Amino acid sequence: MKEILRTKVKDLLAMQAGSDVLAKGWVRTKRGNKEIAFIALNDGSTIKNIQIVVDKNADTEPVLAQIGTGACIGVQGKLVESVGSGQAVEIKAEEITVYGTCDPMRYPLQKKDTSFEYLRTVAHMRPRTNTFGAILRLRSQMAFAIHEYFHSKGFVYLHTPLITASDAEGAGQMFQVTTLDLENVPRDKKGRIDYGKDFFGKQTSLTVSGQLEGELGATALGEIYTFGPTFRAENSNTPRHLAEFWMVEPEMAFYDIKDNMDLAEDFIKHLVSYALEHCMDDIQFLNDRYDPELVERLRSVIGTEFVRLEYTEGIRILEEAAKNGVQFEYPVSWGIDLQSEHERYLVEKHFGKPVILTGYPKDIKAFYMKQNEDGKTVRAMDVLFPKIGEIIGGSEREADLAKLEHRIDELHMSRRNLEWYIDTRRFGSCPHSGFGLGFERLLLFITGMQNIRDVIPFPRTPKNAEF
Ligand code: 4AD
Ligand code: MG
Repeated sequence: MKEILRTKVKDLLAMQAGSDVLAKGWVRTKRGNKEIAFIALNDGSTIKNIQIVVDKNADTEPVLAQIGTGACIGVQGKLVESVGSGQAVEIKAEEITVYGTCDPMRYPLQKKDTSFEYLRTVAHMRPRTNTFGAILRLRSQMAFAIHEYFHSKGFVYLHTPLITASDAEGAGQMFQVTTLDLENVPRDKKGRIDYGKDFFGKQTSLTVSGQLEGELGATALGEIYTFGPTFRAENSNTPRHLAEFWMVEPEMAFYDIKDNMDLAEDFIKHLVSYALEHCMDDIQFLNDRYDPELVERLRSVIGTEFVRLEYTEGIRILEEAAKNGVQFEYPVSWGIDLQSEHERYLVEKHFGKPVILTGYPKDIKAFYMKQNEDGKTVRAMDVLFPKIGEIIGGSEREADLAKLEHRIDELHMSRRNLEWYIDTRRFGSCPHSGFGLGFERLLLFITGMQNIRDVIPFPRTPKNAEF
């Protein structure tokens, strides 16, 4: 038989019948009757399977006997028009190679338990399911769309460090990085841990954000973005928090808070449009299978102008709602950090569209945010989304040296550790702004999934670092 190159299923399904082809992939199902077997083959290139038709005879029976759900095979044959409904073409098999058999008794992906909870326990196998195939393709496409968006606008992709000696958010939620012997920690004369003896000669952690270094980039290169993993040791076991998640952080010189909001809105709309334009097969699958309003929700975000709302006004609306009988688990008053129930009330019930909330109290926000004249609020902005709550957090940055130093002192943070950062305000300071988009929060929105553990291949959460 003549050697031919493998064609991906996605491309096979778009081809005209007639040619000799070779497909390779994993068997989704095998069924048939006495004369013919039908194999649904998937290779991960698309949500769709290609149907393989095999004549049963003395030659093919032994091979067919080895093939069941999960097995990996290669099929050479002719691409023919399909008589069955559901597909335009199928492969009439001439030669089948079995690369790997799959014991049906032990294969972890059985029809009987496909709950998301169960699939998380077999996260090493779940990419083989239709659902996770769709999610992981979407994840990859969205990562590409992010790079494409910023690249087309001339932003520089800046690689910020993952190991750091500073707590960018000042929230103390960092994972420590050390090579010290934990059984025998070196101590100084006062009994404190002697980090001078540690690998970096000081205490270091995994970063919670690339922002501080991003600001160094923006105040030199103009517009930058980072896109990489970030780490938070916050012990929140919620469907929206991961200990390791990916964040996109653009940072722009000469942008004020309004420019920042405009960019955030345009950015998200672009990503959602991109998904609808390039990934409709996967989105439609998720829509039909789990979330019948998904496509409509995605379209509605593109077609609407986001609300821009002062925090103070937001609180007034929530207080009013509480007065009128809406039950919030956490009581509302000026100064509180909004809970996801509050965010979702504003977005889903009150306005019925995304909201960009600005002018937060300075005491619930990070040290670097630009302080307003009132002395109480800062130029922060959170973009709040239906079903998700906060999807983006950002701000205009405090560009004034004295104000920044004062705030760092006020919060009892170490100025010494941040001298390099403060230098941006000492030497040629400029107005600038930026934000961070939680990549998995975006994916929750785009896939309609309910739990953030289901939009990252191998989730890291409290008490869980499997796989
Ligand atoms: O609001 P956050 O903490 O802001 C920052 O880190 C800023 N330095 C960003 C900036 O201005 N450059 O985080 C930004 C976003 C949140 O809006 C949320 O979408 C996501 O990151 N996020 C998380 N996603 C998953 N799991 C967690 N534990 C997250 N914490 C934040
Ligand atoms: Mg935030």
